[in-house]
Amino acid sequence: MQEVTNIKSDFPILNQQVNGKPLVYLDNGASSQKPKVVIDAIAKYYTEINANIHRGVHTLSQKATDAYEAARKKLQVHFNAKYDYEILFTKGTTDGINLVANGFTSFLNEGDEIIISHLEHHSNIVPWQMLCERTGAVLKVIPMNENGELVMAAYDELLSDKTKLVAVNHISNALGTINPIKKIIDKAHKFNAAVLIDGAQAAPHIKADVQALNCDFYICSAHKMCGPTGVGMLYGKEAWLRKLPPYQGGGEMIKEVSFEKTTYADLPHKFEAGTPNIAGGIVFGVAIDYLNKVGFDSIQQQEKELLNYATTELLKIEGLKIIGTAKEKTSVISFNIEGCHPYDIGTIVDKLGVAVRTGHHCTQPIMQFFNIPGTIRASFMFYNTKEDVDALVVAVKKAKMMLL
Ligand code: ALA
Repeated sequence: MQEVTNIKSDFPILNQQVNGKPLVYLDNGASSQKPKVVIDAIAKYYTEINANIHRGVHTLSQKATDAYEAARKKLQVHFNAKYDYEILFTKGTTDGINLVANGFTSFLNEGDEIIISHLEHHSNIVPWQMLCERTGAVLKVIPMNENGELVMAAYDELLSDKTKLVAVNHISNALGTINPIKKIIDKAHKFNAAVLIDGAQAAPHIKADVQALNCDFYICSAHKMCGPTGVGMLYGKEAWLRKLPPYQGGGEMIKEVSFEKTTYADLPHKFEAGTPNIAGGIVFGVAIDYLNKVGFDSIQQQEKELLNYATTELLKIEGLKIIGTAKEKTSVISFNIEGCHPYDIGTIVDKLGVAVRTGHHCTQPIMQFFNIPGTIRASFMFYNTKEDVDALVVAVKKAKMMLL
């Protein structure tokens, strides 16, 4: 296991100045940075084995196919899926959720219910609203409390025989709340409802075991896990993936095509029409290896320290309020400063080299709940340091002084 303190040097992009100041990157919730092994693996793929997969008899095509399927296997092992064909490559979390939402069209009838939560990203709200429009199903929402925690008693009330699917995130991107997904899954299964977990914000921090969780779908994106953009994973239980219709039609997802009838390929190819993001898939595997080499215990320990330290230091700033104070939280701090617009704070701290996200974070219902236009969000990864937190605090203080 590598010393977490030296890990920043694995990330070439972090060794630069932005606006004349050393870069302090605290927008990891939006996208993580990439270690050199990941960057090098992209170059290596295009330099040495670039070819289309599952198609050619030639050597390069076979090498590319083997590397792509080896990456699928790495994801299977990492998430402890029972079979490698339960792992589908997607464009990312949004794509994965839409694949399932689209597939459920033929399973739902008018009056059936889908449960989501108040803590969802728009990508785990809108596809279900679209599904409801197509089918006449009804969307129900688990409420949250002032701390940004789900009200589990209300969830109990919402569940019924009408519930066909529950879709919640593992961790809230806006507030950092870690949701009690095992309880959510077990309760839903008592009503035979399927459960989809949006793991986009959790997968960089927590190693989910899909068999232990017993979820029906678990979805994440490589780019938040030190991997490339444009590629993600959809885990689906075999029985569900066999039942779901294909999402897109095209090459590679077929067994046989004639003008009269097309039969579909077996799993996982049934869901992987067209030439995929081959380099992305292979390098997703490299990113997974990298995270495991750092070790999830070390990752969690470092991020917990950063969360505690940043929370304490930020709260020393007068007028600063943290939005999202759940007991179970990951290394995300959303905050506002009385009398300042989040956008103005974000713009000024950027001039001081500190990258944070401002706005509604694609979670407008959360902002509506707190009656705010948005927040400033600092989201940490294991490669961040206490010095990064200090730089954030100094920058926020300066921004506040300039604005008030
Ligand atoms: N979902 C990403 C975020 O939270 C983009 O910033």
